[in-house]
Amino acid sequence: MPALTPPLADAAPATERPRFVHQGIAFGCDYNPEQWDPSVWREDVALMREAGVDLVAVNIFGWAWLQGPDGDVDFRALDEVIELLHAAGIRVNLGTGTSSPPPWLTARHPEILPVMADGTTRYPGGRQAWCPSSPVFRRYALALVDAVARRYGDHPAVALWHVSNELGCHNARCHCDESTRAFRRWLREQHGTIDELNRAWGTSFWSQRYTDWDEVLTPRLTVSSRNPGQVLDFHRFASDALLEHHRAEAEVIRRHSALPVTTNFMVTAHIRDLDYWSWAPEMDVVANDHYLDHRLGAPRTELAFAADLTRGLASGEPWLLMEHSTGAVNWQPVNLAKEPGQMLRNSLAHVARGADAVCFFQWRASLQGSEKFHSALVPHAGPDSALWREVTELGAAVARLDEVQGTRVASDVAVLFAWEAWWANDAENRPTHALDYLDHVHAVYGALHDLGVATDVVRPGSDLSDYRLVVVPGLHLVRDADARTVDDAVAAGAHALITFGSGVVDEHDRVRPGGYPGAWRDLLGIRVEEFAPVLPGTALALDSGAGASLWAERMRVTDATTVVDRFADGPAAGLPAITRRTEAAGPGSGDAWYLGTLLDPADLRAFAARIVDAAGVRREPGASADVEITRRVGDGRSYRFIVNHGTDGVTIDARGAELVTGTVVDGRIEVPAGAVRVVREEGAA
Ligand code: GLA
Repeated sequence: MPALTPPLADAAPATERPRFVHQGIAFGCDYNPEQWDPSVWREDVALMREAGVDLVAVNIFGWAWLQGPDGDVDFRALDEVIELLHAAGIRVNLGTGTSSPPPWLTARHPEILPVMADGTTRYPGGRQAWCPSSPVFRRYALALVDAVARRYGDHPAVALWHVSNELGCHNARCHCDESTRAFRRWLREQHGTIDELNRAWGTSFWSQRYTDWDEVLTPRLTVSSRNPGQVLDFHRFASDALLEHHRAEAEVIRRHSALPVTTNFMVTAHIRDLDYWSWAPEMDVVANDHYLDHRLGAPRTELAFAADLTRGLASGEPWLLMEHSTGAVNWQPVNLAKEPGQMLRNSLAHVARGADAVCFFQWRASLQGSEKFHSALVPHAGPDSALWREVTELGAAVARLDEVQGTRVASDVAVLFAWEAWWANDAENRPTHALDYLDHVHAVYGALHDLGVATDVVRPGSDLSDYRLVVVPGLHLVRDADARTVDDAVAAGAHALITFGSGVVDEHDRVRPGGYPGAWRDLLGIRVEEFAPVLPGTALALDSGAGASLWAERMRVTDATTVVDRFADGPAAGLPAITRRTEAAGPGSGDAWYLGTLLDPADLRAFAARIVDAAGVRREPGASADVEITRRVGDGRSYRFIVNHGTDGVTIDARGAELVTGTVVDGRIEVPAGAVRVVREEGAA
């Protein structure tokens, strides 16, 4: 069976790409002036200057504003807005405007509307109602991009191109006839013959064997569960279809402009439709949108994970926080306002993890439309408000951090993460629905985070040779070649921590026989014979007294492997729960640790601390779940970020210049409850 093409982008090498160049850390927002009378624009620009805003995204949803049914594009209003911004020294992050087709277009061409898995159409009246594979939509969109890029391709105000908006936020998976045809074409490219497709999807089971490509459909709703190989390939196809759209817009822009091109990613907990490992190499600079999600157990830790992952997508380079919120969003069941100081903490937590821009959705709170109760920099209450004062304080704080721009976050720990594994793990039929992939990843990441361990989140298959510790949380799907990089890292002296459910299936979602985790059985010296998850609410105990939940499994170990802890009760009572194979890849190599259950948070933290210490990984003194401490370094400079989310002040050893308050730190720094401090460390490299 041929290996599926790994989702590697055929993009220009990074060195040949235009770079996003900006004076210091950018501070800005989405600006949707089409909602306002031109008299408001002038006040807006004056307030932007007051707040220190220097990068503004416009024309994000501009299509209906710019172009009518006759096809003519009227740039007069956009010209005026761009000139106003330019005159005020504010740079423009220019949208192509194609995010949402105007009603005249969908009325004329209803075939561009997306179709859901149940065969129902999604109609205009919201946003992003278009099929990613529609050639008709593409034609109209590219014509608009061409007009916009011709007009502003070398405008001195424009700093960056912003393709569409959050591609795939709502329309990633379309099942219309056009998408079905495109899916078949994609499958032919990947699998070659219908026999290979049958083998890859295991269609011998349940009488699913295909005899012709025309029989193959997108995974529409069925009366039972669907073929998981088909669902997985559809996820890949859907991600590629939107990437192709991005690429098409970017190509048009590049015909008229030498400026950098990006689009805003959604590296976040609730959207998982795009494999950003394949997208990232096509970005001139990586940009992300992030909103705190209060439906999660630890929203702040998720922010840190998303920021580390975005930095991974940027190959460690600085990236842009393109959107976050000053306060509440409007799309969660209960939309929490931020506490005083929380906006600053959230913003600088992103900077601490590599962001070189702090931008928001949106500038001025809408009075109408779906997002009128979404927070903004200028709230409904206007500038005479506590929120506006916090915005101006944040603008000033960001300006004081300008010198941090361009530095990078250093880390000795790699956490492997993959969207493909997410799709494969969270399938319809699986051992337990009580634990999703991302929850598993967050649990393990959270333990490292709370220990003050700096982590890079990287793509499976990345070069791991510079890391002291490689962590593989629940990486259900992994290619053989990618799995070997973990073995190689261990052979080179790194420790590895692999947790349950990892390495079970290959890229075709096919189980590796002989005992789990097939991909790393030999490295770990274990053989899991049977999964034995437990019901939510069932407590598991280990011999050491540690507590666990949700997952147990029946495992045997080889002679070379030490049992660190055993299940004291539950379906695997008496069997190993945690193992360690010392010098797992021969003399001088690192140790391979395996965790076969979901430890309770404090026990997981203690276990992680043991491995971190064994691997010789540094923990930031003073860091905890409430106090994030990270470093950005470069050009002989080192900046220590201390973000105190807690209710108590903390004192940390430090020496140098503190940038937020502009004070000298001579040995110790007090960081009050809720405050952020950034120390340019003296004598540090
Ligand atoms: C996304 C979109 C914005 C806005 C925000 C609201 O990030 O890009 O247009 O809808 O969500 O949180």
